[in-house]
Amino acid sequence: MNKTDPKNISTTIRLTQFTKGGGCACKLRPQDLETVLDQIPVMNDTHVLVGTDNHDDAAVYKINNETALVETVDFFTPVVDNPYWFGAIAAANALSDIYAMGARALFALNIVGFPSKTLPMEVLKNILTGAQQKCKEAGIPILGGHTIDDEDPKYGLVVTGSIHPDRILTNGNARPGDLLILTKPLGTGIITSGIKKQLTPENIKNNVIRQMATLNKHASEIMLKYPVSSCTDVTGFGLLGHLSEMTHASKTEATVKYEKIPVLPYTEKLAMENVIPAGTKNNYDYTSPFVDYAENLACYQKMILNDAQTSGGLLIAIPGKHAHPLLDDLIKKNVNAHIIGEFTQTGTGKIHVR
Ligand code: CO
Ligand code: CO
Ligand code: CO
Repeated sequence: MNKTDPKNISTTIRLTQFTKGGGCACKLRPQDLETVLDQIPVMNDTHVLVGTDNHDDAAVYKINNETALVETVDFFTPVVDNPYWFGAIAAANALSDIYAMGARALFALNIVGFPSKTLPMEVLKNILTGAQQKCKEAGIPILGGHTIDDEDPKYGLVVTGSIHPDRILTNGNARPGDLLILTKPLGTGIITSGIKKQLTPENIKNNVIRQMATLNKHASEIMLKYPVSSCTDVTGFGLLGHLSEMTHASKTEATVKYEKIPVLPYTEKLAMENVIPAGTKNNYDYTSPFVDYAENLACYQKMILNDAQTSGGLLIAIPGKHAHPLLDDLIKKNVNAHIIGEFTQTGTGKIHVR
């Protein structure tokens, strides 16, 4: 890679300095968002198979008995300094909701906010190139989009996919006895926060960029060969936030074991030094009422469990006897998957951390 290669991670322009929050950590506080959404009446339509009820990953709209459309949108401010990788990560992140529904991606549209007075147009070109190459890897085209002049750079995609109406994986079908598999380690919020503060060594930075740019396509395709009950992906609301969407929608309780949860190298060190994004602290407040933490868990560990992830892994619920064959298959095909807990009983969504 030469100096002008947009993939070269060390850049002179530091995109993360153009914005306050980064990646999925720049989501609105979930408690604020809910207050507003509760006041807006829901529109009913008989074609809607998955709507807004259970905070699922994507909307699903039935076309006929064979086909349903799956649609999702995701965009955010820069999570890394390099424009190419910002584009690639935003694309992997947007596509992830399609894979979490067990669907096939068809095509995408760009959403762009760009400060044309403060950044050279070359930066935009590199963001779009990174996204384009990621979508190419996913096997889909980007067919257009919309751009506005904006104070902070923002980028993301609307992704359209398709699925058979009988094969939709919602977050509402986990059952007692299901085990819980996570396909990427936690810590991207804390580490990217460290990158922004220039506290992160180069190899850690490269490692987290590589992980965030990894598509969940491969993991999803492997998962679909097994009788999975439920699936979602771990993004802005953190592991416990997204798991709680599953336990609430499925009316179950779950237990996760801290020492079983994979964490990116350097995350614990930064978390102990209190390098915690605001989004992660918000998530902790949000999940606290329905999480019961073991007494010996340290504050920094609770933060990691609530860390706002950008382009995190799939969170899969699968009946116990099928969990190990799926896990072995994922690991054999280079997915960094782990069994992190289980659904214990029917209930009101409570999560126990041991
Ligand atoms: Co999602
Ligand atoms: Co999303
Ligand atoms: Co799903």
